[in-house]
Amino acid sequence: MRSVIFRLAISSVMLSGCIDNAPDEVGQTQQAEREDHDHLGAQQVRNRAGIAEEYSPLGTLAELETTNAFFKNLGTSGRTCESCHGFAGGWTASAAREVWEDTNGTAPVFMFTFDNGKCPSSDISTRRKRKDAMALTLERGSTRGAQKIQPGFEFEVTAVDDPYNCAETSLTNVFGYRKPNPLTGVSKKTSVTWAPAAQPDMRAAVKAVFVGGTQLHGQTTYVPTDAEQNQAADFMLFNFFAQVEDDEAGRLDADGARGGPVNLANQEWFVGINHASTGPTTRKVFDLYDAWIGADADFDHGRGHCHDRGEAKRRALIAEGQEIFNFRENANGGTCSGCHNSPNVGTRSVYQLFDIGIVDKFDAELPRIHIRNKTTNAERVVTNLGRGASTGLWSDVGKMAVPILRGLASRAPYFDSGQAKTLMDVVNHYDQHFNFAFTDHEKEALVAFLSSL
Ligand code: HEC
Ligand code: HEC
Repeated sequence: MRSVIFRLAISSVMLSGCIDNAPDEVGQTQQAEREDHDHLGAQQVRNRAGIAEEYSPLGTLAELETTNAFFKNLGTSGRTCESCHGFAGGWTASAAREVWEDTNGTAPVFMFTFDNGKCPSSDISTRRKRKDAMALTLERGSTRGAQKIQPGFEFEVTAVDDPYNCAETSLTNVFGYRKPNPLTGVSKKTSVTWAPAAQPDMRAAVKAVFVGGTQLHGQTTYVPTDAEQNQAADFMLFNFFAQVEDDEAGRLDADGARGGPVNLANQEWFVGINHASTGPTTRKVFDLYDAWIGADADFDHGRGHCHDRGEAKRRALIAEGQEIFNFRENANGGTCSGCHNSPNVGTRSVYQLFDIGIVDKFDAELPRIHIRNKTTNAERVVTNLGRGASTGLWSDVGKMAVPILRGLASRAPYFDSGQAKTLMDVVNHYDQHFNFAFTDHEKEALVAFLSSL
C-alpha cells in the first residue's frame, strides 16, 4: 500500500465548532456556515443531517478515481463497482436518484436488466419505461438478485406473491431486491455478502468479490490481474466514510468529540474485540460523544464551549442517544450495543448473523415468498430469504450480517431491502420488534446519534 500523508480537503466549514464568539457575531458565523455548505470539500457530500466525509490513507478520491481498479470499466456494460457502491450514497446506491438526474437516466446502472430493474424481462425501451423498471433503485437504492431454491434446501417455496409479476419468477427462482452494502470500513468486518462462515482473510474475500463482480456486473469473462485485484481490495479495506458535520451541532470532532472518517480509520478493531471470546466486554460500544454529555446544562451554567443554546442542546441530544444505544435495555435486557458490539464502528466483531424480524413485515414493493420447512412443515412468509438463500438452512432464513453503523445519514433507506425509509423508521422497528418501549424523546435522541455517525 502506498503511504501518503493525506491532508483533508475540507472547506472552511471546519471552523464551526463551539468557538468563543460574542453573541452578536453568532448569527453571522452561522450564516457564513450555511453559505459554505454550497462549497463542499472534494471529499465531502451533503445529506439530510449535515455533511459526510471520505478519508482513505491511499490517497484523495480524485487520485483514486483515476488510478484504482475499483473505479475502472473492465467489462462491456459500462458499469464499474462505483455504479452501485458510489461515494455520494455513502458507498451504496442510495444516491441513484441524483445519478438519474445528472445523466438523464442513461448511467450504465439503469441500462441493463440482467442484474437490475424489477424483472429480467422489464421493458426499458424508453426513458419513461426505464424509470418505472428502475423504481426500486431510484427509491430504495436496491438492485435485483436471483435467489435460486435448490433441491437440497431444508425448505421449499410454496407460492410467491410477486408485485411485478415477473415472467421469470417461479417456485425455484425468486427475486430479492437488495441494497449494495456500504463499501467502507470493510477491514472492520468478519465477513462480506452472505458468506456461510467467517472470512479471516478479508483481503482474499474482497478480491474474489471484485473478480466475480467485474464478470457479473461488467458482463465479461475478463479476469482482473492480481495487481488490479489488490488495488480494488486496498480501496475497499481502507476506505472510510463518516458524518463530519451536523447542521445544528457543528463539527462532529470539535471540543472533545471524535466523529468523522479520520477517527474511524484510526479506530482499533480485531476479530473478537469487545466479545467474551477474547476477554471482558463492555456495553459502552460508542464513546465518540462523551465530551458532549450534558452540553446543554453546561451552557445554561455558563460553562462548556457552545456559543448558542441550539448547538448545546443538539450536542447533548447526540450524546444522550449514544448512551441509549449503549445501555438502554429492552424487555429482555437486550441493548443495541449487544449485537452492534465493535467499538465506534457498530459491526459485529465475531461472525454471527441475526434475524431482526424485518423480512416478515408486509412491504408492498417487495415479493412475499411463502416457504415451508420440508421436515417440520412450519411455514413462513418473507420478503427476503437472508442467508437462507445461500445456505438453504431453515434457521438461516431472514438472517443478515450486522452492518457498519457509520455514514448512515448518506445511505437511506435502511436494512437489506431498504424497508425503513428513515432512521426514525429503523428505531420504530426495533421499538416494536424487540419491545424497547422507547419514549418519543429517547427515539429523537437515538436518531440524532445515528445521524451523527
Ligand atoms: C448492479 C449493482 C452492483 C454493482 C455494479 C456492484 N455491486 Fe457489489 N453489491 C451489490 C449488492 C446488491 C450487494 C449486496 C448483495 C450481496 O451481498 O451479494 C453487493 C455487495 C457487495 C459486497 C459485500 C459487502 C459486505 O459488506 O457484505 C462487496 C465486497 C461488493 N459488493 C463489492 C463489489 C465490487 C468490488 C464491485 C465491482 C466489481 C461491485 N461490488 C459492483 C450490487 C452491486
Ligand atoms: C439482535 C441483534 C441486533 C440488535 C439488538 C440491534 N441490531 Fe441493528 N442491525 C442488526 C442487523 C442484523 C442488521 C442488518 C439488517 C438488514 O440488513 O436487514 C441491523 C441493522 C441496523 C441498522 C441499518 C443499517 C443500514 O445500513 O441499513 C441500523 C441503523 C441499526 N441496526 C441500529 C440499531 C439500533 C439503534 C438498535 C437498538 C435500538 C439496534 N440496531 C439493535 C442487528 C441488531
